[in-house]
Amino acid sequence: MEKHIVTELGFLTLFFSFLAFSNAAISNKIGINYGRLGNNLPSPYQSIELIKTIKAGHLKIYDANPEILKLLSGTKIHVSIMVTNEQISNIASNQTQANHWVRDNVLPYYPDTMIRFILVGNEVLSYNSDQDRQMWFNLVPAIKRIKKSLQAHNIQNIKVGTPLAMDVMETSFPPSNGRFRSDISKQVMTPLLQFLNRTNSFFFLDVYPYIAWSQDPTSNDLDFTLFRNEAQTYSDPRTGLIYTNLLDQMLDSVIFAMSKLGYDNVMLVISETGWPNSGDIDQPGANVFNAATYNRNLVRKMTVEPPIGTPARPGVVIPTFIFSLFDENQKGGPGTERHWGLLNPTEGPIYELDLIGKRPESDYLRLPKPVNNKPYRGKIWCVVAEGVSLTELGAALTFACGQGNGTCDALSPEKQCYEPLSVMAHANYAFSSYWAKYRSAGATCHFNGLAVQTTTDPSHGSCRFPSVSV
Ligand SMILES: *[C@@H]1O[C@H](CO)[C@@H](O)[C@H](O)[C@H]1NC(C)=O
Ligand SMILES: *[C@@H]1O[C@H](CO)[C@@H](O)[C@H](O)[C@H]1NC(C)=O
Ligand SMILES: *[C@@H]1O[C@H](CO)[C@@H](O)[C@H](O)[C@H]1NC(C)=O
Repeated sequence: MEKHIVTELGFLTLFFSFLAFSNAAISNKIGINYGRLGNNLPSPYQSIELIKTIKAGHLKIYDANPEILKLLSGTKIHVSIMVTNEQISNIASNQTQANHWVRDNVLPYYPDTMIRFILVGNEVLSYNSDQDRQMWFNLVPAIKRIKKSLQAHNIQNIKVGTPLAMDVMETSFPPSNGRFRSDISKQVMTPLLQFLNRTNSFFFLDVYPYIAWSQDPTSNDLDFTLFRNEAQTYSDPRTGLIYTNLLDQMLDSVIFAMSKLGYDNVMLVISETGWPNSGDIDQPGANVFNAATYNRNLVRKMTVEPPIGTPARPGVVIPTFIFSLFDENQKGGPGTERHWGLLNPTEGPIYELDLIGKRPESDYLRLPKPVNNKPYRGKIWCVVAEGVSLTELGAALTFACGQGNGTCDALSPEKQCYEPLSVMAHANYAFSSYWAKYRSAGATCHFNGLAVQTTTDPSHGSCRFPSVSV
């Protein structure tokens, strides 16, 4: 008898979950982010053929590119498009602008192109100038106007939301302590959650356990971050919930934060997650082994039937988009920024990955051993990369020396680094000097691809190159 009741309850739960999800665009098919900040990328046509080959169920783009939306017509790929941050304030203030956006970017393609999500802005709450803060308060009004416009066309199938990064959190540890930042909690998060709850939309979260781990790679457990069985589990002291991986911890912290504002049932979508396949010398853990391990274990976790969910929300599907399709060589910042791809734009797959989640680990070719899971300790210099043209180098040299504070004093006539007098030699010195001076203020050793880090001291004669010690 008891057994019978249990079965019935199980059935009811299943039935209600089915009801809750049946009209939403929810599936446990893995999606992929298609970023296009590269000058060596395949054409949209070729890219979409690749996306079909890797069997991505969803595709997310960072705009509403007409060529891509046309090419996706008639495919079974669910599509997520984006209102750019620059468009938010106009749309927030004027319904006609929202109507025009929908008229121009949705109606020509929908429903032949299976647009499922419209994301308004990208990580809007992560920007923090006076002007950016104005955008925070325009965010929910813009979302509502886009929704209203869709409703005017009787389009119910497209959910509207906005992807946010983990920096919306004031605290995220232990997960039960999760709380949104006080500067956005009342004014942005509450109205956002109210909208998402009312319209059965999703909380879109960009969540990177890699970034959390990399803040302190010596103390943080890499196995826990990579979903490996060897990991030590963690028990939240307040709830007693047991965590086997960092991603669940981060997701649950957001679930607890929503709950504190009174929203217990808003569903999550992971709009971005992933792991860099390479990076700079001062960026441990960015390698093919970890990237493949993270993404394979992620896909398996998110596609398994019945769904696992998280400790705070067991059994719930979390639609997931991996970042990213391609390595993007025109992104600035540290080396990892240019190495989130599953594919190298010119050479193909960087590692094997089955987005369906069925392939057993033993079926994959062996991965190269990770070489940089422990932080490098020592000096690093920043020098000219191989194969760089002298014309480009001149401008970079001028820029570096223009930053003042004696960056290029040693290059003056009669100073110790004046000889040899060549753009190449002077740029080598200027890059190292600039980076050593300004790294703590956020400068990177990149110079649009002209510079690379090295552990080999480029000093010569009496010319000592400034270095960074890590
Ligand atoms: C709203 O936008 C439309 C279309 O650009 C424009 O014609 C109209 O004047 C705007 N209304 C307001 C109140 O700014
Ligand atoms: C969320 O939506 C549900 C279902 O529509 C509703 O019953 C509930 O009151 C809403 N929660 C809040 C906090 O508004
Ligand atoms: C010199 O360095 C200081 C501190 O890093 C910085 O605030 C200042 O802007 C620099 N000067 C110039 C001309 O860049």
